[in-house]
Amino acid sequence: MRSLIDILDLSVEELDGLIQTALAIIDDPARFSQCCRGKQLAALFFEPSTRTRLSFESAMLALGGQVLSVTGAGGSSVSKGESIADTAKVVSCYADIIAMRHPQEGAALVAAENASIPVINAGDGGHCHPTQTLADLLTIYREKGRFTGLTVGICGDLKYGRTVHSLIGAMSRYEGTRFVLISPPELAVPDYVRAALRESGIPFSETASLEESLPGLDLLYMTRIQRERFDDLALYEALKDSYVLNEEKMKAAKADMCVLHPLPRVNEISVAVDKDPRACYFRQAFNGKIMRMALILKLLSEKEERRDSRRYVHHLHCKNARCISRTEQELPQAFYAVPGEGIFRCRYCDQEG
Ligand code: NCD
Repeated sequence: MRSLIDILDLSVEELDGLIQTALAIIDDPARFSQCCRGKQLAALFFEPSTRTRLSFESAMLALGGQVLSVTGAGGSSVSKGESIADTAKVVSCYADIIAMRHPQEGAALVAAENASIPVINAGDGGHCHPTQTLADLLTIYREKGRFTGLTVGICGDLKYGRTVHSLIGAMSRYEGTRFVLISPPELAVPDYVRAALRESGIPFSETASLEESLPGLDLLYMTRIQRERFDDLALYEALKDSYVLNEEKMKAAKADMCVLHPLPRVNEISVAVDKDPRACYFRQAFNGKIMRMALILKLLSEKEERRDSRRYVHHLHCKNARCISRTEQELPQAFYAVPGEGIFRCRYCDQEG
């Protein structure tokens, strides 16, 4: 049984395979319309979602399968204090595969370790969002025809934007990628993301200026400032309008630059930009459904579990208030050593212990 918790759980070859399946689905959807007959997807969404939940459900239905849904903690026993582990064990009795979104970092990993069916991380707090990255990758492939040699600008909330963390992980594996990380200093990428970039030797720069960055970019990935993750709402108010991409700014961009956005958009891209052929975000939302179809097919057909080769120490305590290890009943603390950094990071949320 195979789950998808982090985008790095998939090798580059496997990503290529998913893209080939997605292209085949686009080419002839009828060929896939009965592939999941008799199978059920449980969509457990303990945080708001439009695209991700509906695209998972629509993906399963398009494969001939069925869907069971939980939306919001208030509609499930999680509101009675049920642990993620127990929820995962119980849902394993009713469904064949789980897609789970949860506000706590590491929640999907805990679910995967307790479920007897595949678990897909549909977003764990501000940590990861691997299936959005699958949508992003199919979009990049269909728009640019390649993954190599791209200068990728990522703009907005790089601290709490889980889609950003997963996209950086994925694109870091392709030859010639360079990142331009554009954010206010308060919303820069978390340490563990910066450390991973340094470790893999990927060129990257950090800046607050979208205008100065634009002319050099092949891709611009805009993101929303994640209001719900701020402890200090005054800081959110101060930062919420940091970036607005408009027609005037687009004049400075390359003629073939792609604008991506995981959506929802608040105000960071002017509606007038939508008609620019370089605006790819609505096509990206379509691609999300197709890649989720490809992923469901893959996970339901695999028996092999992913082997975790890391070694853990258990004597530390996670300081991250949003980490699942702070609330889940009797979950052992577990930290891995980071070579060259001389520190330990939590296996659930990757924050320093
Ligand atoms: C993103 C998410 O939930 O992280 N949305 C999505 O899944 N398409 C981005 C966001 O909420 O800003």
